[in-house]
Amino acid sequence: MSSDATLTAPRILARCRDLVRPSLVTAIGRLHPWPGEMAAFSLGWCEVGGEPADGSFEGKGVRQALAVLCAEAAEAPGESAVAGAVAVELIHTFSLLHDDIMDGDGTRRQRETVWKAYGTGPAVLAGDALFALAVQTLAETPGPHTAAAVARLSETLSGLVRGQAEDLLFAARPWTGHQAVRTDEYRAMAELKTGTLLGCAAALGGLLGGAPAGTVAALDRAGRHLGVAFQAVDDLLGIWGDPAVTGKPVHSDLRQQKKTFPVLAALAGGGPHARELANLLNSPLILDDAGAVHAAALVEACGGRTATLAEAGHHLDAARACLRGVPLAHRAAREIEVLLGFLLHRRL
Ligand code: IPE
Ligand code: IPE
Ligand code: MG
Ligand code: MG
Repeated sequence: MSSDATLTAPRILARCRDLVRPSLVTAIGRLHPWPGEMAAFSLGWCEVGGEPADGSFEGKGVRQALAVLCAEAAEAPGESAVAGAVAVELIHTFSLLHDDIMDGDGTRRQRETVWKAYGTGPAVLAGDALFALAVQTLAETPGPHTAAAVARLSETLSGLVRGQAEDLLFAARPWTGHQAVRTDEYRAMAELKTGTLLGCAAALGGLLGGAPAGTVAALDRAGRHLGVAFQAVDDLLGIWGDPAVTGKPVHSDLRQQKKTFPVLAALAGGGPHARELANLLNSPLILDDAGAVHAAALVEACGGRTATLAEAGHHLDAARACLRGVPLAHRAAREIEVLLGFLLHRRL
C-alpha cells in the first residue's frame, strides 16, 4: 500500500494514466495510419507528419482516472477498468476534435487543434475513427459485463450529442428577454455535454469492477454532478484562465455568444453592470480584444465568477453525497475526493 504522499491529484492522475496508456497506445495503433496520426497528435504524442513529440500535454486524463478509481472503489484491481478507461478517453478525444470545429477554436493542449493542423475534413474523419474505435474496443473486451458496458457507452454518446446540440442552439439565443437561456437550461446542457461522459467513466469503472447495480448508478450520478461542476470551471477558465496554462484560447466563448455559467449568473443578478454587459453582448459586432476584456470585467463585477465557483462547489457536494450513499473502498474513495477538490481549483 502506498503512503499518503501519493494522495495528490497529479500523482493520482499519473498513476491511472500509466496503467491505461499501454492499452490506449495499442488501441490507437489499430486505426488507419492517417486518422491514427491525428489522434496521436491531439494527445501530444507526435508532431504533424508523425515525428514523435516530447513533453507535450496529453490532457489531464480525468475520465480514465475516474474509471480506474471507481473499479478500485468496488474493491477490484484498477486493471479491470482499463478497457472502459480507454473507451472513455477515446470518446473524449473524438468529442474534442469535433468540438473544436464546432467552436472554431484554434488551440488545445498547448498546440494547434487538429482541424487547424490537418484541415476540417480530416479532423472530422479522425473524430469518427476514434468514436468507432471506442465502441469496438469495449465491445471486444471479454468478460461478463461487456454488453452492459457497451449499452452504457452508446447511451452516453447520445447524451453527449444532445448536449452539444443544446450548446450550439443556445449560442443563437438572446442574452435577455423571454428567450434568454436560463441557468436550469444551462445545467441540463452541461450535464449532457460533459456530465454524461464523466458519469459513464465512473459507472464503467464500477461495472467492470463488479460493483452492484446500486453502486454503479450512484457512481453515474456522482459523475454527472461532477460534469456540471467541471463544465462551470471550464467556462470560468475560458474567461479568466491563462492560455499558457490551459493550452486553450481565452475569451473565445464570449466572442461566440456561448451561454456560459459566469455570464448567465452575471446577467441574472441585474443592476447597472449587468445592463452594460447585456448591451455589450447584444451588440451585433463580434467583440474585439478590448471588448472581451471589458465584458470579462463586467461579469466579474456582477459576481459571475464567484457565483460560478459556488455553483461548481454545490455540484461537487452533490457528487460527494452520491458517493457517500454507497459502500466504497476507503483508499479509492479518498483518491476520488482528492480529484474532486483538484477539479474545482484547477488552473488547467
Ligand atoms: C475539456 O475537457 C472539455 C470539457 C468537457 C470541458 P478536459 O479539461 O478534461 O480536457 P483535457 O483532456 O484535460 O485536455
Ligand atoms: C466541451 O465543451 C464538451 C465536449 C467537448 C463534448 P466546451 O466547448 O465548453 O469545451 P472546451 O472549452 O472547448 O474544452
Ligand atoms: Mg469548445
Ligand atoms: Mg463546445
